[in-house]
Amino acid sequence: MKRDELEKVLASMTLEEKIGQMMQIVPWDGDGDKEVTGPMELLGLSEEQMFCCGSFLGTADPEEIERIRKAYKEKSGSKIPLLFMFDVIHGFRTIFPIPLALGCTFRPEAAREMAEIAGKEASVSGLNVTFSPMADMVRDPRWGRVMESTGEDGWLNGLFAAAMVKGYQENPEEKYRISACVKHFAAYGAVEGGREYNTVDVSDWMLREYYLPAYQAALDAGCDMVMTSFNTVNGIPATGNEYLMRQILREEWGFDGVVISDWGAVGELITHGVAEEGRDAALLAGRAGVDIEMMTPHYVSYFAGLVKEGKISEAVIDDAVRRILELKQKRGLFEESGRVPDPEEAKRICLCEEHRAKARELAEESMVLLKNNGVLPLSDKKKVALVGPLGKEKAILGAWRAMGKSEDAVSLYEGLAGEMPSEQILFAKGCEIRGNTQGDIRNKIDSHAEAEVRRVMSQADVILLALGEEQDMSGEAASRSRLCLPGAQKRLIDMACETGKPTAVVLFSGRPLVVEDWLDETDALLQAWFPGTEGGAAAARILLGRREPSGRLTMSFPRNEGQIPVYYNCFSTGRPRPEGELVPYVSSYLDIPNEPLFPFGYGLTYTEFAYSGLSSDRDTFSSGETCRISVQVRNSGSRAGDEVVQMYVQDMKGCVVRPLRELKGFRKIHLAPGEVKKISFSLSEDMLRFHDTYGRLITQSGTYRVYVGKDSTAQEYVEIEYKSGLLC
Ligand code: NOJ
Repeated sequence: MKRDELEKVLASMTLEEKIGQMMQIVPWDGDGDKEVTGPMELLGLSEEQMFCCGSFLGTADPEEIERIRKAYKEKSGSKIPLLFMFDVIHGFRTIFPIPLALGCTFRPEAAREMAEIAGKEASVSGLNVTFSPMADMVRDPRWGRVMESTGEDGWLNGLFAAAMVKGYQENPEEKYRISACVKHFAAYGAVEGGREYNTVDVSDWMLREYYLPAYQAALDAGCDMVMTSFNTVNGIPATGNEYLMRQILREEWGFDGVVISDWGAVGELITHGVAEEGRDAALLAGRAGVDIEMMTPHYVSYFAGLVKEGKISEAVIDDAVRRILELKQKRGLFEESGRVPDPEEAKRICLCEEHRAKARELAEESMVLLKNNGVLPLSDKKKVALVGPLGKEKAILGAWRAMGKSEDAVSLYEGLAGEMPSEQILFAKGCEIRGNTQGDIRNKIDSHAEAEVRRVMSQADVILLALGEEQDMSGEAASRSRLCLPGAQKRLIDMACETGKPTAVVLFSGRPLVVEDWLDETDALLQAWFPGTEGGAAAARILLGRREPSGRLTMSFPRNEGQIPVYYNCFSTGRPRPEGELVPYVSSYLDIPNEPLFPFGYGLTYTEFAYSGLSSDRDTFSSGETCRISVQVRNSGSRAGDEVVQMYVQDMKGCVVRPLRELKGFRKIHLAPGEVKKISFSLSEDMLRFHDTYGRLITQSGTYRVYVGKDSTAQEYVEIEYKSGLLC
């Protein structure tokens, strides 16, 4: 359909039909009875309003989508095709590692590969839009949604978000493309206390310098939609926030795609206390620039009246509907052949061998080896006691598992059994994941279970503990105040330790957990996250050394909950804690160091890498010039391995405080034993830009330290002078 035809469609619609396009609901009723008319009662909609609705969320079954499409074709007045949206976050039917784990691959292309497959499976199933990527920068692992972010570095998050957008929207085959929707605009990752749906209060400077860039990177990559967040920004809930949506998003960034509210967020303007009732909420959100209201009916209930009263202009509604129609056009919905679900193709490609193989590969790449006293890799000739509630658990897909099914997943036990003789694997579950209450030390292991654990441990050469969280203990509405192992799991570590046998822990979780209190009791720790459909196979291959561990943390592991937030790109403070002994009146805790237990960028391998010869090809540079930073990396161990060479920059003085260091480059390399590679990074003026206190993006002349090494604590650096203070 051409532009003028689209305008004709718009002109032919009644006001009510237009407003209907701005409503999104789920096609089922409260009892789970999947009827088209379900939401009518739930949301108090008339049949007419119902059949004006522009889009649905929450259904992904191709046959159901087809049924709904047909019903709408018959009954809706305007005959505008529907958009179907869904949370396809880390896979559709084939489930990939959670986004936080994908971040740990330090390979944005991995996220693109995931998104391409997820989009393809979703598209043939009848979906048009996914509510992904989540570009929220996260610093608080109490917040369950950290699993949906790629970590604590805004720049890195932007690279991953952009890669996902391209994966969803730029599949080489047009029919497999779906639209991406970046969320949650803005700064949802800064919820106070890590408590879901809570208040956010960040300065405008913090917002622009740290939180906004990742959303912008997704939009620069062409992302079709933006979702508002539940939180406040500058005292106004994002969903009614003109500054965010009109000024930043539309005016400053020139975004001309569709803005959707988060679930019920228009109605929540009332509970937030900035709107009195539904009419008020509709007015606030409409004026602020929310095009689609998700799951509350205030637009359809009040917009027509508000237009008549002159409170909101019809032009605002036309603009929103034009954007929605353009999106429908982009997704091919107006075309003669139309984009329809293809249940046959869905059956053929969803969860096919090729997709499973990619899921396995990415899961392997995302796991992070945090400790190893030499017990790993395991020998397949040894007898292994696999102990713990996650040993045979198949519910390891992660919280946003879309249409993924646990029964399709490979458990750790199955993964090991696929790689070594199963008679050599003795299993004891020991306890449930959660026990009675989360992390309650009164949780006991049942005496029969304890005896069984002791029996298998006594018969084995090595003990492998499969521990962690339930997959729904992270994700939406899954904040935790204590980040210890839930239930009685810690007791299993104690029992393993009592045997004196070599022990390794495989940790499944959707967030960094607090592991310091038992880390000394284990010889090795592999962070497996929620690894998806092929998770157990991937973990087994790493544990047995079939695949080298190559993941690196993109979120710091706190020593305990009291240290949160702890992140690498923090400021110096006026009283930094000096190295060594604790002295009084400095910024520190009396009981723990300031540094996290495991820092950003950290991860071990089964080999060693030695860095040497860090240098820059110039001591000074100015705008338009580029420095080449080089380093030699040698695999000094006896196994092949993957290293993530990381470059961090520290601005030694600025007109505002500058972080102690910031990631500015990274390279993932594979080296055979003894092999040496020279790695070079470019450093240019644009990489030194930052926001001043007035929100201007600037670069300042001065000294910059460039660190290159294996993680964010790298000590080797070169100093470079940047000359000429360019205002950008
Ligand atoms: C609420 C969540 O915050 C958001 O991320 C999600 O996309 C929507 N629900 C739709 O399911």
